[in-house]
Amino acid sequence: MSAPAAGSVADLCRQAHESVGDIGSARSLPAGVYTSPEFYEFEKNSVFRSSWLYLCHESQVPEPGDHLAVTVADEPLLVARDHDGRINVLSAVCQHRGYVITDCDGSSKRFRCPYHAWTYELDGRLVAAPSMGPAHDLDELRRTIALPKLRVEIWHGLVFATLDADAAPLAPTVADADAAIAPYRLGDMVVAETVTIRDLPFNWKNMQENALEEYHTSYIHKGFHENVPADRVVHGAFPPGAGAVYRHAGMIIGGGEPVPGRPTLPVVEGLTEQERHHFVFLAVPPLLFAAIRPDGAKVFRIVPQSAGLTTLTIQFLFPRPTLELDDFDDLLRQQVAMIDTIDQPDLDSNARVYAGLRSSFAPRGQLSPQESSLPQFNRWLLDRYEGAGRPAAGVSA
Ligand code: FES
Repeated sequence: MSAPAAGSVADLCRQAHESVGDIGSARSLPAGVYTSPEFYEFEKNSVFRSSWLYLCHESQVPEPGDHLAVTVADEPLLVARDHDGRINVLSAVCQHRGYVITDCDGSSKRFRCPYHAWTYELDGRLVAAPSMGPAHDLDELRRTIALPKLRVEIWHGLVFATLDADAAPLAPTVADADAAIAPYRLGDMVVAETVTIRDLPFNWKNMQENALEEYHTSYIHKGFHENVPADRVVHGAFPPGAGAVYRHAGMIIGGGEPVPGRPTLPVVEGLTEQERHHFVFLAVPPLLFAAIRPDGAKVFRIVPQSAGLTTLTIQFLFPRPTLELDDFDDLLRQQVAMIDTIDQPDLDSNARVYAGLRSSFAPRGQLSPQESSLPQFNRWLLDRYEGAGRPAAGVSA
């Protein structure tokens, strides 16, 4: 038997229509949307160049000059706080001959391209270009050249940018989720640790889907998820044009109370009793997924490297008072160590699903009510697939 044909991009988009709507009739997406390199190329424009991309939490660039680098859909980007305290998202591509100025996080007064020393301010303006005279006037170069700057929105401390000049503002599209997460005050939290795992052998959507559905938690996470059982989940609304998919998950033991096998952490100030007994699981696709607890949050940045490879960065957020606890280092170590027990089974499952999707026998599976977030996510995807072809030039120099 020969390898299965993925189908053309147009065919796959047509088939994706069977993956939205009522949970009784929606099927999982066709395998080719995960496995086809051609479809991933299509997604670079239709999804990644036309959506709001989650890049980091603002606490990760606290001081002027602090910057963070990430490449999404072949676009090397820099998140940088400038001398006025503003967060800018810039292209990291030097406007001389295209050298990627840096692909590392760090802190610097300016960005200096290592290749020929063109130098840019933290807001992208060119300030130096040695040995360009007398053929070129430096003042003219300074006036006309800058690192391209993306539109930025900061939502509850989460920094988003878009390459699409025509993208609708992010905030109104996530307004429904706003009320769900507001009590947890993510904007006041601080990222205390990040863990990056590269070359994960699955498609970026496998990661979002696994995080979005609670069906697997009773099985893959048996012994570790009983405090947040699948049958207590309430799915959020997903009105037309929504930019977020989320669910509430009720907890048997509330935040701040000891749960066997987990560190006990202080909860966010001001939570009601009900809010202390809730998790909120939130996706702002394509790049953000967050598990928001009464005592902190774990934020995932899901960045595709190709159709079948993904880089995952896990950010551990806590309220500021928690960071001042005498035993915080130990509590943080325990929390991070739980990647092995909680997240690794998800990553292994995603790899197994991706292997199955490459098979001739890959299913268009029926979905459980405990997977009700998936038709919502598929709707979000289909809206992008059908908007494909728009010019994406959302940067200004
Ligand atoms: Fe950056 Fe030449 S490519 S200075």
